[in-house]
Amino acid sequence: MDRHDIALIGFGGVNRALAQIILDRGDELAADLGFALRVVAITDLRLGSLMQADGIDLADVFAMRDGETFAGRPGGTAAPQNDYVIRNSTADIVVEATFTNPIDGEPGISHVRAALESGKSVTTTNKGPVALAGLELNRLAAANGLTFQYEGSVVSGTPILRFASETLQGLRIDAVEGILNGTSNYVLGKMESGMTLDVAVAEAQSLGYAEADPTADIEGSDVQLKVVILANELLGADITTADVTRRGISEVSAADIIDAAAQGKRYKLIGSAFRNAAGTVTAKVEPVALPLTHPLASVTGPTNAVSFDTDLLGTVTVSGPGAGRIETAYALLSDIIAIDAHQRARVEAGR
Ligand code: HSE
Repeated sequence: MDRHDIALIGFGGVNRALAQIILDRGDELAADLGFALRVVAITDLRLGSLMQADGIDLADVFAMRDGETFAGRPGGTAAPQNDYVIRNSTADIVVEATFTNPIDGEPGISHVRAALESGKSVTTTNKGPVALAGLELNRLAAANGLTFQYEGSVVSGTPILRFASETLQGLRIDAVEGILNGTSNYVLGKMESGMTLDVAVAEAQSLGYAEADPTADIEGSDVQLKVVILANELLGADITTADVTRRGISEVSAADIIDAAAQGKRYKLIGSAFRNAAGTVTAKVEPVALPLTHPLASVTGPTNAVSFDTDLLGTVTVSGPGAGRIETAYALLSDIIAIDAHQRARVEAGR
């Protein structure tokens, strides 16, 4: 049985959920996928770092008491040593799910770069590294015979990037539009039932959808990063956030929502990117009052959805969870499967 050894960088909700999946379903997954998963390193701001080349006992890690750190365990230290662990652990795959600032993409960008520089393929759920440095990091991966995967950076585990690049292969995608922020979609729905924006945002925070600073959800900057990723990945663009015009749902009043309903419409925060005949890509984030017959109008709550305009199929829409710990951990698992396929293809090609 083949095996991948992985390093978990950050041990917050998402990487904990991945570790729990490996602990609970490792044997079933190995039988299904044809390879086993073993965690050989964990590094985290609160717990410190742990490196054990023969595999970490995850049940033991989950049994740790509040305030306990990895200090005192073999291969353990109370200090988080992210760069050292990424470069020196025996892992062949780095799983990056730290708390990363979406404005500058750090420390995620540095973590991904360190993994690729030290011969390890890497997956991240952070959108900052992909939106702000995706082209550079993909080039670095290719130059080193590695792969950089980031399905969870847009619409969490709902596989829209792989759906577009693999399932829709052979089609030309000319435009992408979607509901890319679960918090704002949830808040707009609650405002339709008369709740104020502030109360609805607080609810979204308590349910775990909203960013640490929900301004990014409400003012559209979370969607702005996701639109950059979609435009660059799927439309072959090379844009940055500065190229994406942005308006958030804070511009939508209760009166606007009532007026829209009277016209058979519903407000949605839409992120979109469109390529014209000359190849120029236009991208924006804005609240739009959609007719109820529009495929995105019926997407409610924290759910996300993306519509692809294609040359041969017309519009194809995919919807699913856009946030959540287990859902985002699944994105990491799907990326690990893609990394395994990449490694196998290189072995078969004799490289
Ligand atoms: N705050 C984001 C949302 C989480 O509400 O969609 C995923 O990026």
